[in-house]
Amino acid sequence: MTQLDACPKLYFGRHSLDALAGLPEDGRIMVLCDPFMVESGIVSKITSRLERYGRSYVIFSGVTPDPSINTVTDAMQMLLREKPDILIALGGGSAIDTTKACLYFCLKYKQALMESRYVHRPYFVAVPTTAGSGSEVTSYTVVTDTEKDVKIPISDRAMTPDVAILDPEFLKTLPKDLIAFPGMDVFTHAIESYVSKSATAFTELYALHAGQTVLRCLPRLYNGETDDATCQDMMIAATMAGLAFHNSSLGLVHGIAHTLGAEFHLPHGYANSIVLPWVIAFNAGVGRYRSLKRPELLIRYATYARSMGLRTTGSRNEAGDEDAACELIRTIQQLNKTFGIPDSLAQAGVSLEAIQAKRTEMSAKILNDITTKSNPVAVGSAEVGQLLTDLYTGGGPL
Ligand SMILES: NC(=O)c1ccc[n+]([C@@H]2O[C@H](COP(=O)([O-])OP(=O)(O)OC[C@H]3O[C@@H](n4cnc5c(N)ncnc54)[C@H](O)[C@@H]3O)[C@@H](O)[C@H]2O)c1
Ligand SMILES: [Fe+2]
Repeated sequence: MTQLDACPKLYFGRHSLDALAGLPEDGRIMVLCDPFMVESGIVSKITSRLERYGRSYVIFSGVTPDPSINTVTDAMQMLLREKPDILIALGGGSAIDTTKACLYFCLKYKQALMESRYVHRPYFVAVPTTAGSGSEVTSYTVVTDTEKDVKIPISDRAMTPDVAILDPEFLKTLPKDLIAFPGMDVFTHAIESYVSKSATAFTELYALHAGQTVLRCLPRLYNGETDDATCQDMMIAATMAGLAFHNSSLGLVHGIAHTLGAEFHLPHGYANSIVLPWVIAFNAGVGRYRSLKRPELLIRYATYARSMGLRTTGSRNEAGDEDAACELIRTIQQLNKTFGIPDSLAQAGVSLEAIQAKRTEMSAKILNDITTKSNPVAVGSAEVGQLLTDLYTGGGPL
């Protein structure tokens, strides 16, 4: 038996924030965001509506990028003090993940203290302001343990938002890097979901549409074409890629990127973008990893590349599939170049000494990450160690 968990009700398009008028009545509201949302006035898009609808609210503005356990603890203290009935997460993946983790640990805390009939789960609204994580439709959160330099993915259905509001207006204020990095996270979600062993007809459809939209819209957005249609399409692509990977799985790109992000403080989408071409080559058995021969996965990547409308020369035999998979890799490399994303960890500022000193520890963290465990090819420390060396050196996997 398989299932599609497509839970949150989605509002999208211009003025979709007006959906806040339909929040459950008579509840206390807590808005969670980062300090920039308050300083820039972006939060007023939410609060001005709440005031118009006569709602009282408090703001937690202590969200930090790649939320740490400390950030989540701070948010929890406010939640336990204010006892809100409604949570509104405003921001990128970091704000939504902070809210989810806060909700998760508060529920666990209360369940440990009292009977379940007294434990009340607040209504949860996610308002993404980047087109990236897809966290608005997943039951996952990623919390960083800053003492051990490890990102910990946690999954629980209770963390899935009840409503997600995708308002394209938010994308218009994003600086270039915050368009490119989350946008490449979307492409990574789509590709990893498509080749996942748990992919279904539903997730394939979402992964294909998301990938096609990224190729069509992301370079345009990056170049300042922030018309409503492009912004909306990119927002929808991010959410579709979220629905895709939530219902299939991610893979080794995320396993490595989580560890690189925690160790070297590389932004999530940036780390994914560096790793993605290498893992595709490794999983598909092309380029430097041609001797590995993985015919079934090669066909999956080739099919994805063809569905993206990439120019491929060969026919549908092994050589043609290899050509198509390589074209997918070249397309990602070209996007990375356009977005100023390097092709090696060395160019990303990671030192050789750091890689050498942390190699064993990093390999263990990568192998322990739940996303690595769902990679369509099983990997061990030798493969991961080799990939880390290749990623450091760069030069491209083809
Ligand atoms: N839970 C999941 O399913 C899931 C999936 C993928 C990634 N993630 C997590 O999401 C996080 C990355 O999220 P992200 O890429 O959205 O970045 P982010 O949430 O870390 O935000 C990055 C920066 O963008 C700024 N920003 C956000 N919206 C803006 C706007 N409209 N205008 C101007 N600035 C704006 C923020 O203030 C912040 O400084 C990582 O922690 C990653 O681990 C979670
Ligand atoms: Fe991601």
